[in-house]
Order: sequence, then structure tokens, then C-alpha cells
Amino acid sequence: MTASFPAPLPVLTLQSERRQDGPLVDALIARAFGPGRFTKVSERVREFATFAPEMSVCAWSGERLLGCARMWHVRVGGRPVMFLGPFAVELGERNAGFGARMITRACEFAAAAGETHVVLVGDEAYFGRVGFATAPGRAVVLPGPVDQRRVLVRALTPDAGELAGPVEPA
Ligand SMILES: CC(C)(COP(=O)(O)OP(=O)(O)OC[C@H]1O[C@@H](n2cnc3c(N)ncnc32)[C@H](O)[C@@H]1OP(=O)(O)O)[C@@H](O)C(=O)NCCC(=O)NCCS
Repeated sequence: MTASFPAPLPVLTLQSERRQDGPLVDALIARAFGPGRFTKVSERVREFATFAPEMSVCAWSGERLLGCARMWHVRVGGRPVMFLGPFAVELGERNAGFGARMITRACEFAAAAGETHVVLVGDEAYFGRVGFATAPGRAVVLPGPVDQRRVLVRALTPDAGELAGPVEPA
């Protein structure tokens, strides 16, 4: 009898988003979220935020894009803050830890650039595993309706302090 082994995981390369990656990243996001993504409050933020390609993460297996996590410059209560999203892993490649690795790398890029906080809108059940927690009360105010339990913050330094105020352009 021959033993059967699970298919090996792809070797993942995590790197900053390059200009030429844009169309592939956009297509992955469209597949992952569908047209409903344009109604999200995060899209309202991205309409005024400044894209940070050097802190955005693309996950590659050779020439194949398996995941993306985009990062944006905003301000919260006047302080410079990074806003994360969209964040997606290609269907069929999920549940292998790629998403967590991308979030970790995006936060490493931000910390290395001297940023103090990353904010996103998402499920704490997922992002709590990678260091995010719900912003207390209505401390971080998004530019539209949102379930405040989904407004999550990760401090990148021990003395970063708490964020408070509206999310505004950088
Ligand atoms: C969310 C997403 C990026 C996670 O990518 P991934 O590579 O599968 O993530 P990981 O491998 O790091 O983690 C997988 C684990 O998280 C869990 N998980 C995934 N989404 C979750 C969610 N919304 N809430 C709670 N847990 C979640 C999985 O069940 C799995 O659990 P397990 O480790 O106990 O088996 C991927 O599911 C995806 O692209 N989803 C569609 C787009 C989306 O919802 N993006 C997030 C918007 S904020």
C-alpha cells in the first residue's frame, strides 16, 4: 500500500505592490468581493486616502498572485495612521496561513516606516489573531455607517497610545 500525502503548499513570496501588479490585484479583489465591495465604508475611506504601494503586500507563487493586502495613508484625530484593505486570498488557497502572513508583513512594512497604528474594518475573530482589537467606544469614526465592533486597530509600538477622532485624508 502506498501512503498518500497532502499536496505541498506553494512557496510564497511576499513583496510590496509594484505599479505593474495593479491590474492583477484589482482582478483578485473583484473575484473575492464582487460588486458589493463598492458600498462598503472602507471604500469611502479609500476615496480620500493616499495609496501606499510600498507597504501594500502581494503574495506570489512564482508568477501567480495568491493574495493582496493594500495599505493607505489617512489621519485619525490628526495623527498619521495606516488603513488596511482590501485584503484577500485567492479562493482555493485559503486556510493555509497566507492571509495572516500578509497582514504581519504589511504591519512590519508600516512599523519599519515609522508608522504607529494600522486601522481596518473587519472581523475581530480573524484579525484578533494578528494583533488587532476593537477600537473602544466610537473612538475611531469612519465616514459612514459601520458596526463599530468591526473597527479594529493594531498599535505598532508599545507607546503608540490610543487613537481617537474621525478618519480623514492624510
Ligand atoms: C479573509 C481571508 C483573506 C483570509 O485568508 P486566509 O489565507 O484563508 O487566512 P489564514 O489562513 O491566515 O486564516 C484562516 C483561518 O481564519 C479563519 N477565518 C477566515 N475568515 C474569517 C472570518 N471572517 N472570521 C473568523 N475567522 C475567519 C478560517 O476559518 C481559518 O481558521 P482555522 O485556522 O481555524 O482553520 C480570505 O478568507 C478571503 O480572501 N476572504 C474573502 C475576502 C475577505 O473577506 N477579506 C477580508 C475582508 S476584511
